[in-house]
Amino acid sequence: NAMLSWQRTDFHFQPQKNWMNDPNGPLFYKGWYHIFYQYNPDSAVWGNITWGHAVSRDMIHWLHLPIALVPDTWHDISGVWSGSATLLPDGKIVMLYTGSTGEYVQVQNLAYPANLSDPLLLDWVKYAHNPVLVPPPGIGPKDFRDPTTAWIGLDGKWRVTIGSKVNKTGLSLVYRTEDFIHYELSDHYLHAVPGTGMWECVDFFPVSLNGPHGLDSSVNGPDVKHVLKASLDDTKVDHYAIGTYFVENDTWVPDNPHEDVGIGLKLDYGRYYASKTFYDQHKQRRILWGWINESDGETADLKKVVFDKKTRTNLIQWPVEEVESLRLRNFEFEEVVVNPGSVVPLDVGPSTQLDIFAEFEIEYLASKGIGNNNVGCGSGAVDRSGLGPFGILAIADDQLSELTPIYFHLSGTSSDAILTTSFCVDETRSSKAPDVSKLVFESEVPVLSDEKLSMRVLVDHSIIESFAQGGRTVISSRVYPTEAIFGAARLFLFNNATDINIKASLKIWQLNSAFIRPFPLDYKL
Ligand code: FRU
Repeated sequence: NAMLSWQRTDFHFQPQKNWMNDPNGPLFYKGWYHIFYQYNPDSAVWGNITWGHAVSRDMIHWLHLPIALVPDTWHDISGVWSGSATLLPDGKIVMLYTGSTGEYVQVQNLAYPANLSDPLLLDWVKYAHNPVLVPPPGIGPKDFRDPTTAWIGLDGKWRVTIGSKVNKTGLSLVYRTEDFIHYELSDHYLHAVPGTGMWECVDFFPVSLNGPHGLDSSVNGPDVKHVLKASLDDTKVDHYAIGTYFVENDTWVPDNPHEDVGIGLKLDYGRYYASKTFYDQHKQRRILWGWINESDGETADLKKVVFDKKTRTNLIQWPVEEVESLRLRNFEFEEVVVNPGSVVPLDVGPSTQLDIFAEFEIEYLASKGIGNNNVGCGSGAVDRSGLGPFGILAIADDQLSELTPIYFHLSGTSSDAILTTSFCVDETRSSKAPDVSKLVFESEVPVLSDEKLSMRVLVDHSIIESFAQGGRTVISSRVYPTEAIFGAARLFLFNNATDINIKASLKIWQLNSAFIRPFPLDYKL
């Protein structure tokens, strides 16, 4: 299932070749953003996992660096697995990662840069007496992985949390340490949720309730909530919940127990996994890195993340502002009317790399009876009701033989009683290729009474990233067109609802390609 050249992304980070999975140890150091990632240098499938490494000035253009960590010692000989970076107040950097031993026992190891005056952090040293942590009593040897960035308490001790499970209960252990070498296990789990299975790539970070900025991982106080995120191994979904962190015993409690980690909100309702945030001290924001999986075209993705001050129940995720530096030609459309059952072309030229912002107004057709039961996203954009679906068709060809609808579908019993707003992406007709997975992704997005329906969509050849209501809900999808390629890729508006007209206003930019190349190592900084 080899990725075809026109399906390769042009502004999402990926290695030059071969397999990648989780982003690891992101940090900003001496003017450079660093990303490490789970990388198999030998083949296009998972295995022989090392830490690939790349640097960027702006998180858009990347330079590939030599592999940072390879499996070469008993405590990581079966793989250098996921981990996180912590910047210490004295300027040192600590990297904690999971090693899989020769017996496939998961242990935590310590690594640090060989030379802190090198902004590229090219060389990494493993601590001589690794591992620093082995699975504690009661925890399975293969259920102990992916340490987080550490945060410091008022007692001066650092904390890290590590995902695990006991039977079917997903949970996260907390360790306290002063030197990252010796650790004490907390009596309490940070949190546990029955039925959610193994928690991979746990992330734990503060968000500001009122301020505009992201927060360093150690910040706490009355204006702060804490987000707990787990990647569920059983379902391969990244779930989060917003709650309160109790410093007395290092536990966390969700605001809404019915929306707990793993049973409530998802970071992304499409193809997205093993994400991790870091605090960007350079621009005072928290950046979320994720892995967009599917077939062999694996890529990484990044966004800014903040607390949603309007709903107070959700996070807001938004493409980093640096993406806008790729914007080329701009097109604007004002109040384009789309009647029931129609498709309207948007003449923006080749449509394989786009940044689309669209707002929709609804006009009820009095002659028709409004009303449906909760239809959600239906079985795709062909499923019609009074109030949806309507939206855009991305990466479509002129004959509409391939297309990917990104749409809203409202459910309600009358025009003034909308019950739910579903936000959806339908991959089922995205490709004529028979051997690729094509799904309908469904989410429910809160819409406040003073808000218009809106979406932002980033198109990058085979990735379509869709954000509803300013980033309250996100769907990443992967499409592999065979006809809607190069100059043949087009963009359309559509309205498949029966009882409403749609008025759409759009701003659309063609996007440039990012520069993602090997670093010339003979170059002197
Ligand atoms: C998540 C994961 C992690 C592990 C790594 C191994 O995708 O399974 O739990 O550390 O990938 O590559």
